[in-house]
Amino acid sequence: MREVTIILVLLFSSSLVAAFCPLDKIHRVGHCSYRIVCINTISDINLDSECQGSSNYNVQVDVILQNASDTFHVGADPELFTMITTLSIHGNWPRTELSFLDNMYRLRNLHIINNNIQQIFNSPFQNLVSVENIDLSYNRISNIEDLFQFETRPFKMHSISLAHNSIVEIPGYAFEELSSLVELDLSYNYIRELREEPFSNLTNLQVLRLNNNKIKDLNGALHNLLNLRHLYLRSNEIQKFDMGTINTINHLETFDLSKNLIETIDPTLFPRHWKHLSNNSICRIMLSDNHIAHIPNASIEVFERFRRNSNKPIYVFTKLDLSNNSITNIEYNAFSLMQIISIDLSNNRLTDFIVNADDLIYVRYLNLSSNYLNRLYYESFSSMHNLQNFDLSHNYMEYFPDQSLSNTHSLKYVNITYNDILELHSLRITFHPEGGYLDLSNNGLSSLIIPENEAIGLKELALNSNNISDAYLIRLTDQHNLTRLDMSNNFIVELDESSLQLPEKLDYLDISFNDIYRIAPSAFIRLNNLQTLRLSHNQLKVIDHGVFRGLSILMNLDLSFNEIGQLDSKVFMDLKMLSLLSLRNNGLNILDNDGWLSRKQDLTVYLDDNNLSCTWLAKALTDFNRGYSRMHPSVLKPVLTGNSIQGIPCKQEVQNLEYPSAKYMTDERLLIINQNILEAVQEQTSLLRKFMWHSILQDAERKTALNVVQFA
Ligand SMILES: *[C@@H]1O[C@H](CO)[C@@H](O)[C@H](O)[C@H]1NC(C)=O
Ligand SMILES: *[C@@H]1O[C@H](CO)[C@@H](O)[C@H](O)[C@H]1NC(C)=O
Ligand SMILES: *[C@@H]1O[C@H](CO)[C@@H](O)[C@H](O)[C@H]1NC(C)=O
Ligand SMILES: *[C@@H]1O[C@H](CO)[C@@H](O)[C@H](O)[C@H]1NC(C)=O
Ligand SMILES: *[C@@H]1O[C@H](CO)[C@@H](O)[C@H](O)[C@H]1NC(C)=O
Ligand SMILES: *[C@@H]1O[C@H](CO)[C@@H](O)[C@H](O)[C@H]1NC(C)=O
Ligand SMILES: *[C@@H]1O[C@H](CO)[C@@H](O)[C@H](O)[C@H]1NC(C)=O
Ligand SMILES: *[C@@H]1O[C@H](CO)[C@@H](O)[C@H](O)[C@H]1NC(C)=O
Ligand SMILES: *[C@@H]1O[C@H](CO)[C@@H](O)[C@H](O)[C@H]1NC(C)=O
Ligand SMILES: *[C@@H]1O[C@H](CO)[C@@H](O)[C@H](O)[C@H]1NC(C)=O
Repeated sequence: MREVTIILVLLFSSSLVAAFCPLDKIHRVGHCSYRIVCINTISDINLDSECQGSSNYNVQVDVILQNASDTFHVGADPELFTMITTLSIHGNWPRTELSFLDNMYRLRNLHIINNNIQQIFNSPFQNLVSVENIDLSYNRISNIEDLFQFETRPFKMHSISLAHNSIVEIPGYAFEELSSLVELDLSYNYIRELREEPFSNLTNLQVLRLNNNKIKDLNGALHNLLNLRHLYLRSNEIQKFDMGTINTINHLETFDLSKNLIETIDPTLFPRHWKHLSNNSICRIMLSDNHIAHIPNASIEVFERFRRNSNKPIYVFTKLDLSNNSITNIEYNAFSLMQIISIDLSNNRLTDFIVNADDLIYVRYLNLSSNYLNRLYYESFSSMHNLQNFDLSHNYMEYFPDQSLSNTHSLKYVNITYNDILELHSLRITFHPEGGYLDLSNNGLSSLIIPENEAIGLKELALNSNNISDAYLIRLTDQHNLTRLDMSNNFIVELDESSLQLPEKLDYLDISFNDIYRIAPSAFIRLNNLQTLRLSHNQLKVIDHGVFRGLSILMNLDLSFNEIGQLDSKVFMDLKMLSLLSLRNNGLNILDNDGWLSRKQDLTVYLDDNNLSCTWLAKALTDFNRGYSRMHPSVLKPVLTGNSIQGIPCKQEVQNLEYPSAKYMTDERLLIINQNILEAVQEQTSLLRKFMWHSILQDAERKTALNVVQFA
């Protein structure tokens, strides 16, 4: 009965809310400017009288109509409809006429997105003389034949989106009245052919999106687009592209042909038109994911023709993406006069890179990753003074190509990971004044000596995953600007006072994932600027006194995943600034924390996956909570089962129990009771605590045992 009443009330109230524009959803956002949310239909809106009719003011009425049904129509208030300037409608209309648009001669923006429309009958926009933008994306429209026919041509029409629909064909006259159109989005449809030149009247079009269709041939469809700037054709089935396909190819600023079936590059593809593009503009040519094997010399005549026409110097820069092709061969003058600033040739089949250096003067980004390179020609690089980001990863280099990089003084990132470099005798390059990052990881280096005046400006060096077994063979003491060094994943077995030949300025050192079993006292003595030291995943069993001597500002120390069974906090005495210590996963039985009692600084210690006793843990937590100690026992991942206090796992001292029967110890209920007791115990004073805990526990043990028996 009660349920029925509730349902009735709900139905009643929802029908009350429905079918109008609630007062609290009508917002006046400016003079004669409104934002209104309506449900089901549009009615009951009273605009200020001065804003009505043919007002002197710029009237803006933005209406969002929710849950509009297909029978939604102009109600008692047709005048209201003529006032609307922006209309966004959400509903479910597989078939519709949109007849409510008939009187909306002030409408500028219309959004009917994601309304499941399959078919729109007639020409619903024919009276929208003021319309500027129409967005019909995310529907299932396939037929657009008569959609954009008008009584009076809408002179301000700016953009139309039909993206994410089901259009297969575009009739020749579909857009013929829209000569003012600037942007047209037809992406994500099933368009196969453009035979009837459907864009021939769009002489003002600047942006055309045809990406993610099934176009094989453009059939001259883009010929009249004399003002086109941005053309998106990614993910189609185009095999051939040249001047014949689109005569305005050289005017394009964005030209995305990636993910098609192009095999050859026409020499006219790269030249940009100096006159049509504004000074210092950047053109993007995207040809990744095609089947290109060969880059021919650029057609110099075409360039020169464009150039001669301009009297003042105009700069037009190019970003070129040729990644994910099958390029084996680049001709010497392939990039002539393009003023390339960025070139991506990653994932190709290059065995060398020999191009005219004069064409690479402006290059800031060069990606040669994942090719078959085993050498770099000095000459190609000799003029690349602007190179900042150089990716040579995943190739077959056996040496560091510093000769080629000797003229570059702007390098910020040099990536040579995954090559075959076994030894390095020099690093004669100069990095950017702001400092450089060099990634030499995943090679076979066992030694590296960088003398003074080499690798100038090197700030960060990755040597992880190499073949370093003796840290002493990595000598970087003269790298005065080096602050971060990664030597993880190598084969270092021990460290003594002379092992780390590293610069004083280093603040981050990673030697995790090695085989270190012993660290002698004062091993880090010279690294007095170190703030983070990672020693996790080694084989340390013991930490001797004096090991961390000199690390006076160290803040983070990671000793997790070692085999340290017993640890005396006095070994950390020198680490006055330490704030984070990870001891996770060591199997630690004993942690003597007396050495931390006098600390001035808070110290969080991660203790996941150890074997510390609950007595110890309870005391350490109490001492911290009461401010007796600044050492905060903690875990990265609190545990929910087993023995724990505040999510920190600990071990019950079995031998102290009166009935240490294995049968009862494995009982989950017993464990939970013990845990609850432990948590309660924490509240007790630290002096009384130990005594009480044992007696309570023993008591509980008896009771639980009894219950278990009774229950059974
Ligand atoms: C709109 O309709 C959906 C179901 O079609 C319903 O869940 C939702 O509550 C309705 N919203 C309003 C504001 O009436
Ligand atoms: C389309 O352009 C052609 C000329 O290219 C012109 O004859 C025709 O009138 C235009 N159509 C419309 C509807 O403007
Ligand atoms: C490309 O240009 C270089 C340098 O001018 C020339 O040696 C080479 O023969 C040209 N390639 C072709 C196929 O013309
Ligand atoms: C283009 O910009 C450069 C500076 O970047 C300037 O020297 C040159 O005169 C400019 N050209 C024109 C046509 O404004
Ligand atoms: C290159 O191809 C791979 C898969 O083959 C793909 O994951 C990646 O996104 C492609 N890169 C570009 C730039 O298209
Ligand atoms: C170079 O290209 C590869 C593969 O396309 C990509 O993973 C890598 O991030 C690029 N390098 C840079 C520095 O952008
Ligand atoms: C170098 O490239 C690899 C992948 O190829 C990437 O994981 C790494 O982050 C890059 N290093 C730098 C410094 O960009
Ligand atoms: C270190 O960097 C400073 C600027 O921060 C620079 O003046 C100096 O030459 C650099 N020294 C080395 C050895 O790279
Ligand atoms: C790694 O270095 C050791 C000597 O320390 C050498 O015997 C071994 O061959 C090297 N491994 C590789 C893959 O270069
Ligand atoms: C804790 O100690 C027990 C034996 O007392 C041992 O079986 C277990 O592996 C240890 N746990 C860890 C994480 O080392």
